[in-house]
This record gives sequence, C-alpha cells and structure tokens, in this order.
Amino acid sequence: MAFRRMRKVEEAEYRAFIERNSYVRIGKNRIRLNTIPPETFSPPEFRPEEWTLWSFPERGEWATHHSAYRGNWSPYIPRNLIEKYTKHGDTVLDQMMGSGTTLVECRLTGRNGIGVDINRETVMLAMNKLDFSLPDDLQKTEGRVELFIGDARNLDMIEDSSIDLIATHPPYCGIIKYSSSGKKGDLSQLKLPEFMEAMKGVASEAFRVLRENRYCAVLIGDTRNRRHYVPISVGVLSVFLEEGFVLKEEIIKVQHRTRSSRERWKMRSYDFFKIGHEHLFIFRKPACGEDGEFKLSRKWW
Ligand SMILES: C[S@@+](CC[C@H](N)C(=O)[O-])C[C@H]1O[C@@H](n2cnc3c(N)ncnc32)[C@H](O)[C@@H]1O
Repeated sequence: MAFRRMRKVEEAEYRAFIERNSYVRIGKNRIRLNTIPPETFSPPEFRPEEWTLWSFPERGEWATHHSAYRGNWSPYIPRNLIEKYTKHGDTVLDQMMGSGTTLVECRLTGRNGIGVDINRETVMLAMNKLDFSLPDDLQKTEGRVELFIGDARNLDMIEDSSIDLIATHPPYCGIIKYSSSGKKGDLSQLKLPEFMEAMKGVASEAFRVLRENRYCAVLIGDTRNRRHYVPISVGVLSVFLEEGFVLKEEIIKVQHRTRSSRERWKMRSYDFFKIGHEHLFIFRKPACGEDGEFKLSRKWW
C-alpha cells in the first residue's frame, strides 16, 4: 500500500495560516493559537529519572507547553529521553508529534528535531507552539527544528540510519480520535487488527531511519472493552521486536487526570480496576554483527 509522502511545512505557510485562523480544530476539539512569549524555558529543578516508574503529577508548563491537545505527553518524558540518550547537536525524530512537545524540548535542549504528523491542523498547532524566541543564553545552543505533514509509515525524506533518537507517542488505537472520521492515514481511526498492521509499518520505518546502537522510545496505553483488559501495548511490543529491535527498558508511566474513555465509568463500584498507567518501551537498534546476542531481550516466545 502507498502511504502519503512527507511534505515540509515552511514558515510562510504557517504565517498565512495564523493570519486567517485563531484556532485549530482537532477531532471534536478547538484549540486556540497563541503567540504570547513564554516566561520560563526550563523545568523547575529538573532531576533525571532513575527508576522504571515515572510519575509527573505536575505535567510541566514551562515554555509553551500546555495540556490542550488531548492525550499529549508530559514534556518531562521527552526531556528525560533526550537527556539520557542524546548529546548536543544530535537529531531527534517524533514521527507522530501531535502538538510538538518533543520538538519544543529539542529546541530548548540544543538538539535538532524532525516532527511529522498526518494532520495539517496539528502541524500548524505544533508550529504555533514553536513560535517563540529563546533568551540570549539559550539561543547560542538552540536546536534546529523541521516539521512535516506525513505518515509515520513513509518517512521518505529521511535518510537511512540518520536519526540519533526516536521519541514518539502513537494514538492508543481509537481511544482518542485525532481527526474527523475517515481521515486517510490517521491511525486513531483504525480498529485494533488494522492498527497493529499499521504499527508494523511504523516500526519498519523507525528501524530504517535510526542509527545503529541508538534508541527508539514509544509510549503506548491499553484499554478496556466489555469490562475486560485489552493489552494494546503487548501487540506494539511484539511488532517492534519482530522488526529487529532489542528491548532496552520498559518504563511504567503513571497517568494523572486522564480524560479518556478509559475512566468514563459512571457506576459506584466496578468488577475491574481503572487503568492508571501507560508503557514506555525503549528499544535499541542493534549494531551490525550483534545477531544472536541479547536473545532474551528479543522476541523469544
Ligand atoms: C498521542 S498523539 C501525540 C501527542 C504528542 N506526544 C504531544 O505531546 O502532543 C498521536 C498523534 O499521532 C498522529 N497520527 C495518527 N496517525 C498518524 C500517522 N499515520 N502518521 C503520523 N502521525 C499520525 C495524530 O494526528 C496525533 O497527533
């Protein structure tokens, strides 16, 4: 199947868009575009995570970060990944970037960023969140960021083995819809079997563009159907291991203040537990000649 090709969104297209629009429409939500300069540019007292359990009750509001884009991730997640797995000047890819949280962190930490999303309005929102100037001391080390409309299954404008870190966050199948129904290529419109098939394409392109011995982090959540657990994350883990990645970490991320259908249960008591966590898998692309090594962290079942 042929997937949409990447198209770079230039500054002029964004400027024309914000001339005509003060909101973007994402699924059923309207989000205001904003050009108020940020007051802070870094997290207060950032302490890198050390354990495999992450919890950010204060999701992080520095720079232009805010929670208006449904299901966006806390900026502490890309901040931790960038600090642990990259150095200054490295290139970070988020091929399902949503409101651009990862890309804002790239700029602030002096990493170059590539952001892709299937939805043009979403890309405009991400550009809006990147539309601010850094103070003089950060400008010297500022990362360069490029945004594209495209499909994570076809990263045709990215060369093989050119990315130093992938930090990405797919839709959790259809739990939150990111476009009006029928939008071609939007993974949030798919039923579970088709979603898993689509994730194979995402994993294959991720493997192609990542440098050897570098990391690919994927945040994914599970759901419930007819009062039983649906382990979307197990499917996604399998797909990435089948592609050839090796599992470096599984981090459990505690969820706070979720608005997803996962907690839309009205009864006073339930015969199940409400889901309050997500899985952050960190995969490594093995180096040439590593075949057969780390076999217990590959797909062995
Ligand atoms: C969970 S959101 C990402 C949120 C992001 N981490 C943030 O902080 O805003 C998933 C994103 O994947 C995008 N998406 C869905 N299907 C896609 C595809 N085939 N290729 C690229 N992006 C896609 C959606 O438009 C949505 O913005």
